Amino acid sequence: MTLPDFQLEVFFSRWEFAARHNLAASDAQTLTIGELLAYGDREAFEALPLSYAPTWGTPELLEAVAATYDRVEPEHVLAFAGAEEAMFWALQELVGPGDHAVVTVPNYQSMESLTIGTGADVDGLVLRAEDGWALDLETLERTLRPETRLVAVNFPNNPTGALPDPATFTRLVELCEERGIRLFSDEVYRGLEAEPLPQAADLSERALSLNVMSKAYGLPGLRIGWLACRDRDLLERLERRKHYTTICNPVPSEHLAALALRNGEAIRARNRAIVEENVPVFEAFFADRPVEWEPPRGGCVCFPRLTTGEPTGSFCRRLVEEAGVILLPADVFASELAEVPGDRFRLGAGRRDPGPALDALAGFLDLP
Ligand SMILES: Cc1ncc(COP(=O)(O)O)c(C=O)c1O
Repeated sequence: MTLPDFQLEVFFSRWEFAARHNLAASDAQTLTIGELLAYGDREAFEALPLSYAPTWGTPELLEAVAATYDRVEPEHVLAFAGAEEAMFWALQELVGPGDHAVVTVPNYQSMESLTIGTGADVDGLVLRAEDGWALDLETLERTLRPETRLVAVNFPNNPTGALPDPATFTRLVELCEERGIRLFSDEVYRGLEAEPLPQAADLSERALSLNVMSKAYGLPGLRIGWLACRDRDLLERLERRKHYTTICNPVPSEHLAALALRNGEAIRARNRAIVEENVPVFEAFFADRPVEWEPPRGGCVCFPRLTTGEPTGSFCRRLVEEAGVILLPADVFASELAEVPGDRFRLGAGRRDPGPALDALAGFLDLP
């Protein structure tokens, strides 16, 4: 499969570890290994064998993951190296040439580029700023075809922070079930909002829920993600594909991920509190500046509008080069399926103490 450059990752690869301030991070405040081990048993961690792990994931991890769902058992979970490896294989397994697929726009590019890369015919399910980034099921129904095999969605959405109400999401799951369409639901930002959506794998026996330790738990360095799906045959096919990439995850990471999940409520509450503290700070900051602020409806990222008339592509590149502050320009979310407004930028609200970054941004924005 030939894939285009992953624009967001290209931008981060240049700037994430080179700029002084990251105001665009999609992950909540990172925990240290020490903070995590404070929940558990340091000796057990030190005694872990650095062996291979089962390809599916250690029983400890699969149990901890299954406990985060209502109707998913450990045998319905397959662990991957982050959410990214799971997407890489699942989308290739689910569609191919001759199939039709629908993908939310804007999106984290791999969902769109991998689906297109399979040779499937792909349409966008477009979230529009003027509709409050709503999930429009009537438009979706008109887009579906007899050969539609896959609907892939991401809520809370990166980059818009969009979150449908539970009834609309449940109706989406039903719509896919009625038509025998596989729903791939990227739920990696779930858990920082006051009322998280139900999870697709709980609502449907055939739907896939994607999740990861990176975002709501603030543990991207573990590189532990998973798919939950009650269709065991599908997971078995995916397990065989994983033999060709990572084979298994690192044992220490799976152990720490299981520990974090067993203490998930406390960790998500810590991270939720950081977002809740930050949102009014951003709102006050942008109130008298040329930005239409909108907070994340779910998760920790949002997509405010720059009102100076300058495309955020050039604004964000000038900002990082001249003031050392990362905001993600709209052009890294450009889609082949629909236009993404060029006057938006992604902001991350999940990191502690945005003050120094906002001071640097103020120095840049307030120049005469
Ligand atoms: C919507 C979405 N899905 C999946 C991923 C991949 O997650 P990970 O980097 O933990 O594999 C990301 C990362 O930013 C994301 O935003």
